Amino acid sequence: MKKISLTGIKPTGTLHIGNYLGAIKPAIALTEQYDARYFIADYHALNMMKDPKMMHELTKEVAAGWLASGLDPEKVVFYQQSSVPETLELTIQLMAFTSKGLMNRAHAYKAKVQANTEKGEDPDAGVNMGLYTYPVLMAADILQFDSDVVPVGKDQVQHVEMAADIAQAVNANYKSQVLKIPQAVVQEDVAVVPGLDGRKMSKSYGNIIPLFCSEKELRKTIMRMVTNSQSVEEPKDPDKSDIFALYKHFSTKEEQDALAKRYREGGMGWGEAKEALFQAINRELAPKREKYNAIMADEAGLQKILAEGAAKARPLVAATVNRFRKAAGID
Ligand code: ADP
Ligand code: TRP
Repeated sequence: MKKISLTGIKPTGTLHIGNYLGAIKPAIALTEQYDARYFIADYHALNMMKDPKMMHELTKEVAAGWLASGLDPEKVVFYQQSSVPETLELTIQLMAFTSKGLMNRAHAYKAKVQANTEKGEDPDAGVNMGLYTYPVLMAADILQFDSDVVPVGKDQVQHVEMAADIAQAVNANYKSQVLKIPQAVVQEDVAVVPGLDGRKMSKSYGNIIPLFCSEKELRKTIMRMVTNSQSVEEPKDPDKSDIFALYKHFSTKEEQDALAKRYREGGMGWGEAKEALFQAINRELAPKREKYNAIMADEAGLQKILAEGAAKARPLVAATVNRFRKAAGID
């Protein structure tokens, strides 16, 4: 039997190249060796996103983005978190095994409290119970499928460890393997994709290259990448250039060697380097963009794919919920 890989994606922003290289591509690669369960974490997003139009639109965009990037819904159980109510029963079951102190230590909550304290506000200002108990819902997402590995960014490792802690508390109490202990996997080689201004590409910095914009907008965005003032003639160091760093993700070794040589020789301006980057990114994204636009234009088709995913997920999750009920004497 194949091992199980699971990850959740919050629909909180337009997908960008950092999401694609850092999360989407590596997670899709894992579907070759693992039985994958990937989902849109809309109830996690609800804690910070209260605009219904945005919730609907971003859920659609993120789901279409994964499918257009190559996720095969026949092979992967791909669903929307809110369509599997059994997850919420497991969340309540896990609540009884989650100490409040553990939640106090969660990074996202701690950061919020610290920011509030620094501003002289009430420590819990703007903290809702969904945000505070965020790691419990996430633990349910993970534990419900007996997941072996959880591909995530570094910032989420602590949450996966909390899921393991909660599972251990359950197993220790009932003296049996009620829940499987999961493990986080972090893709180290693409840890940080740079944005337009050299900082980490992130929606919070407004420095993103969108994954599915038009070809024209893609070129325009890449041309806005910040560079130094070296003239066309001056030799340039490819290893110090974010333009080259991005190019590496979208080209072969031969192409990289050839372009690195042109950087070092001098005679190539930043405009030309950016054009080479645009060509390479566009080559990979053009067919995906077409697929994305087709999926976005067919909302009923997309809903059907997600409904089929939920139908596959629900009995799997129900089995875990029932295993817990039995162990707990609630049956
Ligand atoms: P953002 O930083 O734009 O808010 P999220 O935090 O929603 O992005 O990230 C979603 C996923 O994409 C996470 O797994 C995260 O690790 C990955 N990711 C986001 N930005 C980058 C980046 N610049 N480089 C590599 N991975 C990234
Ligand atoms: N918390 C994750 C994030 O912010 C999203 C998420 C929700 C998740 N449930 C999950 C990730 C379960 C992995 C496993 O990116």
